Amino acid sequence: MRTRLSLLALSLLAAPFAQADGYRAAPALPQYVQECSTCHIAYPLGALPNASWQRLLRTLPRHFGSDASVDPATLKAISTWVDAHPQTWKRVGEAPPEDRITRSAWFERKHREVAPATWKLAAVRSPSNCAACHPRAEEGDFDEHRVRIPR
Ligand code: HEC
Ligand code: HEC
Repeated sequence: MRTRLSLLALSLLAAPFAQADGYRAAPALPQYVQECSTCHIAYPLGALPNASWQRLLRTLPRHFGSDASVDPATLKAISTWVDAHPQTWKRVGEAPPEDRITRSAWFERKHREVAPATWKLAAVRSPSNCAACHPRAEEGDFDEHRVRIPR
């Protein structure tokens, strides 16, 4: 009886974590969403290893040609939250070049079928523009069944 109960308890406990294997994001820290979704979507934490996030946070004044700096208290809050969520999506490994999600090996593999011309469409412009093809990217949902490629 005891074994059964603990198995049940385990499966209940495991349920929320199982989702981490789908391409979804847990609700993000409000300060993160506020500061990091003005120029692009607030990218899902699971898409990069912790080392990449921390490096990006340390270099915000020189952020891909933009100044994305935030005040020190906000920076600390975001950094603490990032450290508290070290899980990545299952194929995310080493820090990619420039700490870009879009230069990760898994990203290139998952997007192999996207035609070169598609990335250049006015409605896409950049692979970093996830929401162009993932309509629920803002909510952290990248499920392949919801992909819509603009024409
Ligand atoms: C002032 C505008 C601005 C703000 C604010 C900003 N970013 Fe960016 N970010 C950019 C630009 C520009 C790029 C490059 C996009 C491209 O190449 O199309 C970028 C790219 C990125 C990328 C790489 C995307 C890829 O290509 O894989 C990550 C990750 C990222 N930003 C994280 C953050 C985080 C975290 C914050 C909040 C602390 C933030 N950004 C705030 C402008 C901004
Ligand atoms: C030009 C359109 C386009 C853009 C922009 C784009 N994707 Fe995708 N994405 C796709 C397509 C197409 C697939 C493959 C769907 C399939 O396999 O059926 C895909 C698949 C994925 C998958 C795998 C989903 C699964 O269920 O296996 C993830 C994760 C993902 N994209 C994340 C991103 C992220 C993060 C960004 C932005 C940094 C992004 N994508 C930008 C078109 C795009």
